[in-house]
Amino acid sequence: MTRNVVISGGGTGIGLATAQVFAAHGDQVLLLGRREEVLRKAAVPGALTCAADLSDVGGVRRAARFAADELGAVDVLIHSAGGSGRLEPRVEREDPLELVADNWLVNFRINTLTAVLLTEALKDHLAEPGGRVLFLSSIAAYRGSGSGAYAASKAALHPYVHDLARELGPRGITVNAVAPGYVEDTDFFGEAMDEARRERLVAETSTGRPGTPGDVAATLHWLASPAAGHITSQIVQVNGGAERGH
Ligand SMILES: NC(=O)c1ccc[n+]([C@@H]2O[C@H](COP(=O)([O-])OP(=O)(O)OC[C@H]3O[C@@H](n4cnc5c(N)ncnc54)[C@H](OP(=O)(O)O)[C@@H]3O)[C@@H](O)[C@H]2O)c1
Repeated sequence: MTRNVVISGGGTGIGLATAQVFAAHGDQVLLLGRREEVLRKAAVPGALTCAADLSDVGGVRRAARFAADELGAVDVLIHSAGGSGRLEPRVEREDPLELVADNWLVNFRINTLTAVLLTEALKDHLAEPGGRVLFLSSIAAYRGSGSGAYAASKAALHPYVHDLARELGPRGITVNAVAPGYVEDTDFFGEAMDEARRERLVAETSTGRPGTPGDVAATLHWLASPAAGHITSQIVQVNGGAERGH
């Protein structure tokens, strides 16, 4: 059966790899992200695209309307939009406290708000029973991320997963998050990854390799399958053992 799959951040990295897996299984995919050009060029057969800033209420309303009009019911909703804020436009500030405020607000907007707003806008359109909502958290939610802002904006999704799982469970819809460790071949790190840092991150794993977008995509695909129908309200870590299960 063809499923309707909405993927935010679907034009690059983990979201794109996930879209490719669902499309390869015959599902209809809708890719969301801010850059229209990136979405249009994404190599996902038959994918629909809608460019929108999902941290903005107006953008989310437009994307949700597009999804409802084009797809009807949404079987799988995957939130891959996000980042550390490093790729966002630089704002010049004299005051260090203003810089701290910007960093926390940017992270909250792109990681937490994008996922919460799109979920709330599409909640009534989720297929029932059998619908799936999947979030992208991070190993940082367990460990911190330097300034704390990125880690906190991902950790904020965990209680939302639990509340939503309780709310949507009676409709036969599961809600989970996947928390990856270091994943290569995405835009996430921009210029911020050097060989020494990469080696340190790989050395933390038991598998002795970085994660790939495909590793995360396969886990998301499994969580969206009927086989995972009794798994809900969980944070599933995909990190090669870099952070042990808890
Ligand atoms: N790579 C890793 O090591 C790693 C580890 C743990 C967790 N994660 C998480 O995994 C998810 C995917 O990251 P990735 O590694 O695949 O990085 P990526 O290639 O940079 O993907 C992030 C995507 O989010 C989209 N996006 C960002 N802000 C948005 C907004 N306001 N509205 C709509 N779309 C937005 C971006 O597209 P536009 O800029 O065009 O909007 C981009 O396509 C993120 O949530 C990230 O935090 C990544």
